[in-house]
Amino acid sequence: MSFPITRPRRLRLKENIRRLVRETRLTTDDLIYPLFVTHGREMRTPVEAMPGVYNLSPDLIIEEVARVAELNIPGIIIFGIPRVKDESASEAYDDEGIVQQVVRLIKKEFPELIVITDVCLCEYTSHGHCGIVEQERILNDPTLELLARTALSHARAGADMVAPSDMMDGRVAAIRRALDEAGYQDVAIMSYAAKYASAYYGPFREAVNSAPRFGDRRSYQMDPANAREAMREIALDIEEGADIIMIKPALAYLDIVRRVRDTFNCPVAVYNVSGEYAMVKAAAMRGWIDERRVVLETLTGMKRAGADMIITYHALDVARWLREG
Ligand code: PBG
Ligand code: ZN
Repeated sequence: MSFPITRPRRLRLKENIRRLVRETRLTTDDLIYPLFVTHGREMRTPVEAMPGVYNLSPDLIIEEVARVAELNIPGIIIFGIPRVKDESASEAYDDEGIVQQVVRLIKKEFPELIVITDVCLCEYTSHGHCGIVEQERILNDPTLELLARTALSHARAGADMVAPSDMMDGRVAAIRRALDEAGYQDVAIMSYAAKYASAYYGPFREAVNSAPRFGDRRSYQMDPANAREAMREIALDIEEGADIIMIKPALAYLDIVRRVRDTFNCPVAVYNVSGEYAMVKAAAMRGWIDERRVVLETLTGMKRAGADMIITYHALDVARWLREG
């Protein structure tokens, strides 16, 4: 039989048939928007390598959050830029720290919005590492206590969910215990479970001035070459009490997303990181790619790989595009 009986093209001929057979749908329900908050008033500092992204003071954050809420995006994740950085990351767990202040403000104005806080020390330490440093070594166990204090302080401010991004061993258990002991059983943990030591974080580190002053993060973040190890990390975090597990970065790690989705039952988040955003923006600004189509295709790919939710700097644009249809 030379003539094709089976013709997959039949189901591609019109938009309505394509709608009927479509397997993956990107929706506004999938999106989490990251925000960078800084001390002061009327501060709107552009992040050089991330066009459209700013460090905002609390008064302007509220305006931005209003846009998020208006677009019906379900959640945000907050990163803080402290007034001072020191050896012990003191502002990270200060109840009057910038994140704590802004969480209280946002929850008061937008109680329905899911407010997630990034829990890490690197934005707050003078050396830029995610933990306590002694003789250029990043100490695991002493760091856990500070991470737990930070998470607890975010919970007291009203955070719905805390997201530890440090990659210390045992942090999910330490945070879960601290939250439960203080009566915050309902505060969820989204763990950056498989977080790779990636060059794609460059623009973010510029935004919060958190590049390590010596060495790199390879003694705690994962080797990009490893997939089986990601499965171990994720199993551990689930065992320790993580509610949602995250894979980060997204684009170069979609094989990990697929494997995780096929192996575990808990919700999976991906972080479409700063460097991924910067590449798209740079090419789009030169007219080399169609930004809207590239972004929608990329995020659809992340969902198709198995992500339930996507943290992305494109969230506002995506929500607008999806609304326009
Ligand atoms: C803090 C943290 C980082 C990112 C999220 N949380 C940077 C890092 O680990 O160096 C990266 C986010 C992005 O690149 O968009 N540990
Ligand atoms: Zn960190």
